[in-house]
Amino acid sequence: MARGGRSARVADLSWAVRTEGRSLWSRNAVPGVAVRGERLKRRRGEEWRQWSPRRSKLAAGLLRSKGDKGSLLPEPGTTTLYLGAGHGTTISYLHDHLCGAQNERGGCIVAVDISPRCMRDLVRLAEVRPGLVPVLADARHHEAIAPFLPARVRWLFQDVSQAGQVDMHIAAAQRFLAPNGLSLLSLKSASERSEHGGRGVPRDHYDHARAALTDAGAEVLEVIELTGWEEQHALIVSRMPEEWGKT
Ligand SMILES: C[S@@+](CC[C@H](N)C(=O)[O-])C[C@H]1O[C@@H](n2cnc3c(N)ncnc32)[C@H](O)[C@@H]1O
Repeated sequence: MARGGRSARVADLSWAVRTEGRSLWSRNAVPGVAVRGERLKRRRGEEWRQWSPRRSKLAAGLLRSKGDKGSLLPEPGTTTLYLGAGHGTTISYLHDHLCGAQNERGGCIVAVDISPRCMRDLVRLAEVRPGLVPVLADARHHEAIAPFLPARVRWLFQDVSQAGQVDMHIAAAQRFLAPNGLSLLSLKSASERSEHGGRGVPRDHYDHARAALTDAGAEVLEVIELTGWEEQHALIVSRMPEEWGKT
C-alpha cells in the first residue's frame, strides 16, 4: 500500500494471496463485493480484499508463520475440508485462492458447521462463490460429511472452539486426510479444561495438542501463537504420516 510516496513490500503467497508490508490481501473472486465490510482496492485491473488477522485465524497464522507462508495454503483447484465454517469469513478468502472467479481454478471447499444460522450465510455465499459446498453437520459425525468428499483431501482446517478440539481434529484427519496431507488446527485454549481442573495456561494446551498429534503419528511443523490478534489461540500445523489414508 503506497503511503507518503513509499510502497510497502509485496510478497506473493499464491496467485491470489499476497502480503503488502504487514497486511494480507486476496484477489477478489467476486469483484465489487466485500463479505464483511473489508477494504477493497484495485491494482492493475484486479480487485483485492484486505484479509484481517483479527477476523480470521488463518490470516493471523499466515502473517505470523516463521516458515514458508505460502505452504500453509492448499493447492489451488483441489478439494479441501473446513470444519467450523462459521459465517464464512475465512472461507471467502480461501475461496478466492482455491477457486477464483466463477471457480476458474476448479477448487472445492466442503464447509461444515453445526449452526443453522451459520449455514444460512454459507448458502448465500455459495450462490456467488461456486466451489463452496456448505454442509450442516456436527464435525464429529464423519458419516454426514463423507458423502461430500469423493476422495481423501490434502488440506484440512478446523476452527470449532469447543472442548475436545484436539481429539476431534485427529479423528477427522485420520478419516479424511490423504497421506502426507496438511492439517491446520485453530486451537482455542479457553475452550479446554486443564487436567487439574480450571482453564489452565494456554501454552499447556498447545503442548498437549502437540503431544497428542505426535503420538498419533503426525509431524507437527509449527505452533503459531496468535496472541495480539486472537487471545488464547494457536494455529497448529501438522503433516500427516505416509501410512494414514491407506486403509
Ligand atoms: C470461531 S467460529 C468459526 C469461524 C470461522 N472459522 C472463520 O474464521 O470465519 C466456530 C464455529 O464452529 C462451529 N462449531 C462448533 N462446534 C462444532 C461441531 N461440533 N461441528 C461443526 N461445527 C461446530 C460453531 O457453530 C461456529 O460457527
